[in-house]
Parts: sequence; structure tokens; C-alpha cells
Amino acid sequence: MRTVKAAVLYDYRAPLVVEELQLDDPQAGEVLVKIAASGVCRSDWHVMKGEWTSPLPIVLGHEAAGVVAEVGPNVTRVKPGDPVVISFAPNCGYCEYCTTGRPHLCATMRRVPGGTLPAGGTRLHKDGQPVYHFARTASFAEYAVIHESGAVPIGPDVPVELAALVGCAVTTGVGAVLNTARVTPGSTVAVIGCGGVGLNVIQGARLVHAARIIAVDVSQPKLEFARRFGATDEIDAREEDAARAIRQLTGGGVDYAFEVLGSGPTIRLAYDAVRPGGTAVVVGMAADGDEVSIDARSLASLEKTLKGCFYGSARTSVDMPLLASLAHAGKLDLDALVTRRYPLEEIDEAYAALDGGEPGRGLIVFN
Ligand code: APR
Ligand code: ZN
Repeated sequence: MRTVKAAVLYDYRAPLVVEELQLDDPQAGEVLVKIAASGVCRSDWHVMKGEWTSPLPIVLGHEAAGVVAEVGPNVTRVKPGDPVVISFAPNCGYCEYCTTGRPHLCATMRRVPGGTLPAGGTRLHKDGQPVYHFARTASFAEYAVIHESGAVPIGPDVPVELAALVGCAVTTGVGAVLNTARVTPGSTVAVIGCGGVGLNVIQGARLVHAARIIAVDVSQPKLEFARRFGATDEIDAREEDAARAIRQLTGGGVDYAFEVLGSGPTIRLAYDAVRPGGTAVVVGMAADGDEVSIDARSLASLEKTLKGCFYGSARTSVDMPLLASLAHAGKLDLDALVTRRYPLEEIDEAYAALDGGEPGRGLIVFN
């Protein structure tokens, strides 16, 4: 057992409390990771705002990388000293989903109660009471205990601090393009929501030579920032009907539209922006209870596809090292994504910046 500094959510819409917690040693099949950095992603914000219900108190943070500090009994995949990206979708390796190439939908892990680890219970405690682990990761802390399949070795080529982005934004965004949609060269693409994840959809579309990449947001600085990652056109959704503008720009709609905010109206927008035969991919994770309605006949008469995407449909053990090598080769830009670095004590400020429309990704860094 060790004492770790962590940011704890005790109540929705209340500031996070940075304090010391007790973290148990890793059990069989678990790994202790010393966190190098953890990204400021909207998924944690959904919990902070109470849009996703969760057991409390909880340590948030799910976009992280670090170095293996200790391994529990029977761990063979990693050893102390290995740099790893943390996958928040660990997998059992033997269920139907795992054995048919869709480990991100692992059925065994889906049965694990929210806030706990697959081997049962929490390793985090405060005065003997359990503190829950968000997304089986809980990386807004100096150390995290995770399932061994969540510790993905990435080698030395990408600095471990930047590799944190591979833990969510890059894998989700680039994976949505490569794995979920399988965008082909010359396609037209619209990206609705140009935050940390949306920027990676944009650079994924650039990677596969999309002909046109239309960025849609409600913030001018974010639209300008999106150009650096390959956006060819920008639409401010506050100023015009974005679906109509996309159809006008492309003579009838895009081949692929990606929704990267997580809300009923923007999912509708993505659906309305695709051409007959096109595909709308929903990457954003909406609030509990949010709903969307679409023109019912158009699904058949226009042969549109509305498709969900969880974690970039990634097979994390192969895709995360692949994405890291693409970053090392200069095909994906991780450096430019990070606009601010914060110590853990400034985490509320980091989330205010996410909410306030600051472009790029913030990183909570540990030393
Ligand atoms: N139309 C278009 N864009 C919008 C709109 C709108 N009506 N409202 C907000 N946005 C933009 C914001 O300005 C911001 O740039 O959507 C973007 C969302 O980005 P972030 O807040 O940085 O969120 P991110 O971390 O990228 O996550 C996006 O993916 O994994 C999920 O849970 C996550 O649902 C979230 C989504
Ligand atoms: Zn995320």
C-alpha cells in the first residue's frame, strides 16, 4: 500500500479535492503505473457535471501514460520500467467479442460494476472507505492500479508525457477514421466538434488523404486551430445552418460526418450533413437520457448509415503502438495538440479552460 496524491470528485458540480489517498498494491493480473501525464478530456467533465452518473467519491482521469512501477502476481506482459499507454478498455481475451477482433467491446469487462476494477472492488481508499476508479483508470493521481491488459507498451520513441494523448483522444479520433469508418482517399469529411478528440478525427482524415475536411465548431479560435491538423474549410455553427452549409460546399453532402461532442442536436446535424449513401459516425458520448430523432424514411430511401464508435473501435494492443509509431514518423502531430500543461493542483482551472473554449488539449503533468 502507498499514499498517493489524487484529485477526488465528492459531489457533482463541486470543485475537485486534491488530497492524499491510500492505494493498495496490485493484485494478481494488475499493474501499478506511475502516471506521467493525464489529458483533460470531456468524458471526465461529463461526470463532474453529473451528465453521467457514477459512484462517488471517484478519482477521474482516463487519458494517460506512464511507467510501470510494480506488477502483481502472474503478470507477464509488462515489467517495471516499461513505458505504457493506459487503455481504459481492458479486455479478457476470451469472450466472443475479444475472439472476434472487437476487444474494445469485451463482454467480461462490461459486467464489471462501474468504478471498480475487474478483479473486484477498489484499490483506492480514504480512511478505510472505498474511493472509485473512473473508467478502470483513475489517472488524475500520481499512481494508478490497472488491469494488465490496460497497460499497453509503446516503446521509447514517443515521450511518455505526450503518449498520454494516445490513451484517449488520438486512439478515439484517428481510430474513428481508420477503424470505424474506414475513410478512403479522396473522400469528403465533416467533423462536428473540434476539441481534443475532433482534432484527431481531422488529422486522421488528413492521414488517409481525405480530399476535403470540413471543421464545424461554435468557437472561432477552435476552427482556426483545426487548420493546423488538416481542416480545409470551417463552419461556425452559431452563424449558419451547418448541415445546409456542408451540403452546399460539397454539392449534396459529405461521404462521412463525425460527431465529436456528444449531444442529440449535433448527432442530427451529422446525419443531415451526409450525402445519399454516406455515413454519420457518432464518436461523442452524450449525457444520460439525451435522445436524437432523424427523418425515418431517409435511412432507407437515401441509404444513409448512422454508426456508433467506441474508443475508435481500437484493438488497443496493436493500435496504440501503431499510432505512436505514426506520431514518431511525423504522420500524426501530438506536440501541437497540447496547448497547456498544469500541475494536479490546477485541475479545476484546466477543466474551466476546456469548458471556456480554449483550443487544443490540456495535460495534467506529474513529476
Ligand atoms: N456544434 C459544433 N461544435 C460544438 C457545439 C455545437 N453545437 N457545441 C460545442 N461544440 C464544440 C466545442 O466548442 C468543442 O470544441 O465541441 C467541441 C468538444 O470538444 P471538447 O470539449 O474538447 O471534448 P473532447 O474531449 O474532444 O471530447 C468529445 O468525445 O470521448 C467523447 O466524452 C467525450 O463526448 C465527448 C467527445
Ligand atoms: Zn477521453
